[in-house]
Amino acid sequence: MSPLTITAHSSLCLVIGDPISHSLSPAIHNAGYAALKLPFVMAAAHVTPEKLRDALRGMRAMNIRGLAVTMPHKISIVKLLDALDSTAQEIGAVNTVVNEGGKLVGYNTDWIGIVKPLERLAPLRSKKVLVLGAGGAAQAAVFGCTGRGAQVTICNRTINKARTIARTWKAAVLPIEKSSDLAAFDVIINTTSLGMGALTDESPIPASAICKHHTVFETIYDPFSTRIIRDAEAQGATVLRGVDMFLEQGLAQFELHTGGNNPGVNGTREVMEKILRNAVGP
Ligand code: ATR
Repeated sequence: MSPLTITAHSSLCLVIGDPISHSLSPAIHNAGYAALKLPFVMAAAHVTPEKLRDALRGMRAMNIRGLAVTMPHKISIVKLLDALDSTAQEIGAVNTVVNEGGKLVGYNTDWIGIVKPLERLAPLRSKKVLVLGAGGAAQAAVFGCTGRGAQVTICNRTINKARTIARTWKAAVLPIEKSSDLAAFDVIINTTSLGMGALTDESPIPASAICKHHTVFETIYDPFSTRIIRDAEAQGATVLRGVDMFLEQGLAQFELHTGGNNPGVNGTREVMEKILRNAVGP
């Protein structure tokens, strides 16, 4: 793998979040810059919610080229930027910022991370998709899947949050107590935090609700196989993991930061995927 050359001409990108030390964005983006010999470097910055405004001021002052934005800033950053692209505006969440000549523009590539791995398996048109959860990741999933012609249903612990998202994109709502019979769905996407951190052995749905014909897509990338993924594998369902989403959203983000350089060429994508799988893989 070619080394990354950092000089005074390198453009600086940062991933920001709270916490941030677990982030794999610098590892994959720097591998991509090195493989394509681009004068870029990405580091991580721990930015707490009360410092977000100052962080963006610093970005302008120091002409930082781009941001990857992670929890908990994806929604609160929206009102602090100079402009939004139409997709970020519609989703109401930003995971990518580009400094376009002093103007901070927000984008959302999370929905690409959900739609692309699914459509590599089969077109989403007319598919029945169940989205578990009603946070920012759920909004990106509902936006992406309805945009591709899927029939989307949302299931969330707090039903009113599901109803709000459902109204925006004309989706349906499934009360959580009815989540034991999911045979009518083709695709199940987990965007809840169940499976992560202290909730690592939990799943939002019972294992018995998962059928062989389901495609189960997890958005958590660490651990590599969460409880819902292990249950899905045991039932013989098709699985897509958080690493599949993380890689696709990161590739789209890379292109935005570097002004159209496509990390899909010259094996760069494979390099980035290998780093990701080595970091969290089995
Ligand atoms: P993100 O923006 O990354 O999607 P989020 O906004 O924190 O994250 O959303 C987390 C989701 O996980 C929510 O849908 C949350 O349900 P509530 O809306 O009811 O809070 C869901 N979630 C978190 N902990 C949960 C738990 N113990 N049981 C069920 N759902 C849970």
